Amino acid sequence: MMPVNRRIVLAVRPEGSPGPVNFRRDDQTVPALADGQFLVRNHYLSIDPAQRGWIATGANYADPVAIGGVMRALAVGIVTASRSARYAVGEYLYGWFGWQDYCAAVEQLVISRVQPAQGPVSTGLGLFGISGVSAYLALTELGRPRAGETVLVSTAAGAVGSVVGQIARRLGCRVVGLCGSDEKVQQCVAEFGYHAALNYRAGLEHERLQALCPQGVDVFFDNTSGEIADAVWPFMNLRGRIVQCGTAAVAGWDPLPTAPRRERAVLTRRLRHEGFIIFDHLERFPAVIAQLARWHQEGALVFHEDVEQGLERAPAALAAIFRGENRGKKMIRITDGERAL
Ligand SMILES: NC(=O)c1ccc[n+]([C@@H]2O[C@H](COP(=O)([O-])OP(=O)(O)OC[C@H]3O[C@@H](n4cnc5c(N)ncnc54)[C@H](OP(=O)(O)O)[C@@H]3O)[C@@H](O)[C@H]2O)c1
Repeated sequence: MMPVNRRIVLAVRPEGSPGPVNFRRDDQTVPALADGQFLVRNHYLSIDPAQRGWIATGANYADPVAIGGVMRALAVGIVTASRSARYAVGEYLYGWFGWQDYCAAVEQLVISRVQPAQGPVSTGLGLFGISGVSAYLALTELGRPRAGETVLVSTAAGAVGSVVGQIARRLGCRVVGLCGSDEKVQQCVAEFGYHAALNYRAGLEHERLQALCPQGVDVFFDNTSGEIADAVWPFMNLRGRIVQCGTAAVAGWDPLPTAPRRERAVLTRRLRHEGFIIFDHLERFPAVIAQLARWHQEGALVFHEDVEQGLERAPAALAAIFRGENRGKKMIRITDGERAL
């Protein structure tokens, strides 16, 4: 009997943030391989805020997932059969393998080879996946922080934010964060190198932010947009940089949400507001991963993984990150019981 490939497909597009009602199971047999393809047995599936955008029809940097299509997701898995000259049986890969057990993959779907010497294979999805690499590149190349400057990070305790905070601290900046609970505030300061952090749910009044960043903000690493961004922008210093890495606080872009106009601040304070998409920088992964791995091995870079077991947990886990319930990089382990490495 052919083995079954359990798949989670998009059933209905969400209005706002997605959850279990937007997905359904649609199992099939494991696909046969064409020439050049290789079979990836997924071990860890990624849960990413960006997935909300990938299933919405609003303007985005990629076409939306089709109704009935396997949910687009990054994953780490092992090659179990290969008709490719490039990827051999036994290699662990990180790439676009979807919310499913098996993917008949082509080379273009692979983002990086996972190096077991650098850590458990789950690190390929988190610290050494888009979370860590985005944090490093977007901060250093778009934010360009200098020692002594103030860097403010939204989703400060999350997978990306926690790495941004630690790197900015290494670079000699004053680092402050905004996050969604008092527990995360404590964690930012105790573990992720922040000088101070605020729970934005307790209020974003001007005085609270003034106390958080008395010297203003030179680099705003923005993962949320929304009311958080509205509160932070008035604190931007002359020649400040706003790195737009995410928009987690905005559930939908149709109709367009309204916000204060920012052009006057950009003009008078000579601000630079720049968007970042990690998939423009795939050739940078090996070098950035090597740097992150060195820091991690020295014990100088802390990273938390929030792992749940079971493919069927993926839709609820996606909903939960928009309630701030994750504690680190959210991922789903789908191999039965065994630890991948
Ligand atoms: N541009 C790129 O290439 C790229 C690559 C990777 C990630 N990102 C972006 O980076 C951001 C963080 O991603 P991540 O993977 O590190 O996730 P994460 O921070 O580990 O988890 C998402 C966090 O977003 C916060 N959040 C959710 N809904 C919110 C809301 N309505 N208002 C304010 N905060 C909200 C929650 O933290 P709190 O409890 O603190 O609210 C939640 O824990 C996302 O915007 C993501 O799209 C961008």
